[in-house]
Amino acid sequence: MVRPVLAFAVSGLAALALVAALGAVALERLSTEEAIDDARSLAGVMASGVVEPAIPATLGTGDPAAVAAVDGVVRARILDDSIVRLKIWAADGTILYADAPDLVGEQFALGADARDAIATGRSHAERSDLTRPENRNEQGLAPVLEVYQPIRDPRGTPLLLELYVRYDSVLSGGRALWLTFVPPFVLALLMLAAIQVPLAIRLSRQLRARHREREGLLRQALQASDAERRRIAGHLHDGVVQDLTALSFDLALATEPEAARRAADGVRSASRQLRALMIDLYPPNLRSAGLRGALEDLLEPLAARGIATSLAFDPPAGIDPTSEVLVYRVAREAIRNAGAHAAPSRVEVRVVDQDGLVGLEVRDNGRGFAHETAADRATEGHLGLRLMRDVARETGRTLSIVSSPGAGTLVRLEAR
Ligand SMILES: Nc1ncnc2c1ncn2[C@@H]1O[C@H](COP(=O)(O)OP(=O)(O)OP(=O)(O)O)[C@@H](O)[C@H]1O
Ligand SMILES: [Mg+2]
Repeated sequence: MVRPVLAFAVSGLAALALVAALGAVALERLSTEEAIDDARSLAGVMASGVVEPAIPATLGTGDPAAVAAVDGVVRARILDDSIVRLKIWAADGTILYADAPDLVGEQFALGADARDAIATGRSHAERSDLTRPENRNEQGLAPVLEVYQPIRDPRGTPLLLELYVRYDSVLSGGRALWLTFVPPFVLALLMLAAIQVPLAIRLSRQLRARHREREGLLRQALQASDAERRRIAGHLHDGVVQDLTALSFDLALATEPEAARRAADGVRSASRQLRALMIDLYPPNLRSAGLRGALEDLLEPLAARGIATSLAFDPPAGIDPTSEVLVYRVAREAIRNAGAHAAPSRVEVRVVDQDGLVGLEVRDNGRGFAHETAADRATEGHLGLRLMRDVARETGRTLSIVSSPGAGTLVRLEAR
């Protein structure tokens, strides 16, 4: 039982890990997008609030005083731990200002995103490609995010403000976001798994119990057919075989008419017994006389012994052949037991209608028995009651036997 439960737990944990990982990736992506948006709005604020007002009209001409003025503002009010670089581009790709002085005045081909930002006036953010030549000074930096923000100088010339925002500082905001989501999420998943494991244990226990029960039934079925065979062998041995043995002696001496007559009697008796055995194996009267007639036939020998018998026959309409045979077999065993063990003065048989299904009761007022007796007899190979119970259960019914010493016996076959 340990293995299936373990397999269940492990696969459950694997599924959980997968879901958690997918969830984490999704959250990380979501929070990154959020953070990039934040960086863009930060750039917008910086551009209109700080950079644009500080740009002198002469910046476009490469005036060193203008560059120095911008530099003063940028260093004092913009650059910090998260905004690590700042460049101002002209539309033709000339760098008008950079906080790394050696880039000022150089010209590069603008990337598609930068051109797009200038043309449309919309800001744009992306992870920076640090291998590009204009980024040679940023190579030592941790991953950064480039934000392009269109601005204008006092003359209205469109320029491009480029901010480098540290990617980890962008991410740390996002990460904080998903760290608040992930633990409760994982905890909920773990709790779900914790609830499921006991269920799995119970299920696997039930499966095993059912399996064992089936094995038990199979064993009993084998034992049952064994017992039947033993019973038949017993009948043959005690009756026909002994009669035939005696007959063979008689025939050996069959010179007198008296011996011949005895031999003929023996043959008749043997064939009678064989016929009785056949009937026992397959009761033809169930076919010909129906269940009622067959039950009457079963009670007949008891009546012949002076026992009062009664049969109340009130089965449901249209009783099926399988139920008929079952009722017959149970009645036969119960009546046989009453005759053999109970020494009763009365035996009553009732066939009843239980909500459209057939039920049976066989009651005697004989000596009764304790449950242990029946159990003891069963270990000695007397399986009559056991067989009845098994057959009843296999066909979805219950057999109850109520008896105690001195109080008679009631055998009841219930439809459910
Ligand atoms: N109606 C009864 N009255 C008194 N004792 C009974 C009755 N039915 C069963 N018993 C007791 O229960 C025991 C078990 O009955 P069961 O039918 O299982 O076996 P059996 O009749 O002894 O042998 P088998 O049925 O295999 O020929 C009997 O041996 C008997 O002691
Ligand atoms: Mg019996």
